[in-house]
Amino acid sequence: MPFRQPHLLGVEHLRPEDVAAVLDLAQGHAERARKGHGPGDPLRGLTQVNLFFEPSTRTQASFELAGRRLGADVMTMGVAGSSVRKGETLIDTALTLNAMRPDLLVVRHPEAGAVHLLSQKVRSCAVLNAGDGRHEHPTQALLDALTIRRAKGRLHRLTVAICGDIAHSRVARSNLLLLHRMESRVRLVGPRTLLPAGIESLGCEVFESMEEGLSGADVVMMLRLQRERMEGALIPSEREYFHRYGLDAAKLARAAPDCIVMHPGPMNRGVEIDGAIADDIRHSVIQTQVEMGVAVRMAVLELLARNLREARGREALGMGDLFG
Ligand code: NCD
Repeated sequence: MPFRQPHLLGVEHLRPEDVAAVLDLAQGHAERARKGHGPGDPLRGLTQVNLFFEPSTRTQASFELAGRRLGADVMTMGVAGSSVRKGETLIDTALTLNAMRPDLLVVRHPEAGAVHLLSQKVRSCAVLNAGDGRHEHPTQALLDALTIRRAKGRLHRLTVAICGDIAHSRVARSNLLLLHRMESRVRLVGPRTLLPAGIESLGCEVFESMEEGLSGADVVMMLRLQRERMEGALIPSEREYFHRYGLDAAKLARAAPDCIVMHPGPMNRGVEIDGAIADDIRHSVIQTQVEMGVAVRMAVLELLARNLREARGREALGMGDLFG
């Protein structure tokens, strides 16, 4: 049976069959929601705590809705703005959480690796990474994959251009890893200052010109300029940036005629994307991404709850440590 892991910390270790298991389950949730049918309550009796050490709108709301729709008791703690001191704060947080005994813990944190550390400190609990620093954002890559699969009918042999602030983006990293694993071609497009050195080694092509990078692309994925993670001036001005890297009709005309346009949000209209392009439903699937976000988070919560219950069952029978 696929997707046996206790936590979802990244997409790096997911096999194609694990990805397919999540997407197939999520697809069912999305179809039922469109028909107005309820999903049942597979999370009844479980407590889900959402811990957000960074601001978030859609990811937080989406995890909250997903947990509630499946019948979990959901509590969200927004700790953004508090001075997060690595190490001590996280260990204290883990101790507090252990006392609350959550079953599912959704964590967003500004430090890469913090969610992994927390997963080692909390007892008997499935941990989901909702974005850790520049490292990974696994549910975003999975919801993007579902959106692409619905629009294109497949995830292999596609040309996907991920454009903009690659250097600071966990969305770019998780998408690159997942799409590469599913045998699509990934191009990273952006100014040299926003492309991490040596990124080609992950198996992608790199372009500094939008016109070249978008040529014939099936999927155009735009990224926000992550100013909160930038040190120093990495772009000349927003106006100049839009001129060279903002997605407008002229640049989009280089992509395949039936290409889709994606953006994880929040969007800076007029900076990385022309507002009219974002709203043009002939290409834009940005709203579908939000819809698929809830469905994918439901699927992931459900699969991890299944694994948790099985692990607890084995432990109760003396058949090994939890998650062992
Ligand atoms: C992204 C994130 O937080 O990494 N947003 C999201 O989860 N929808 C991208 C971003 O903040 O630009």
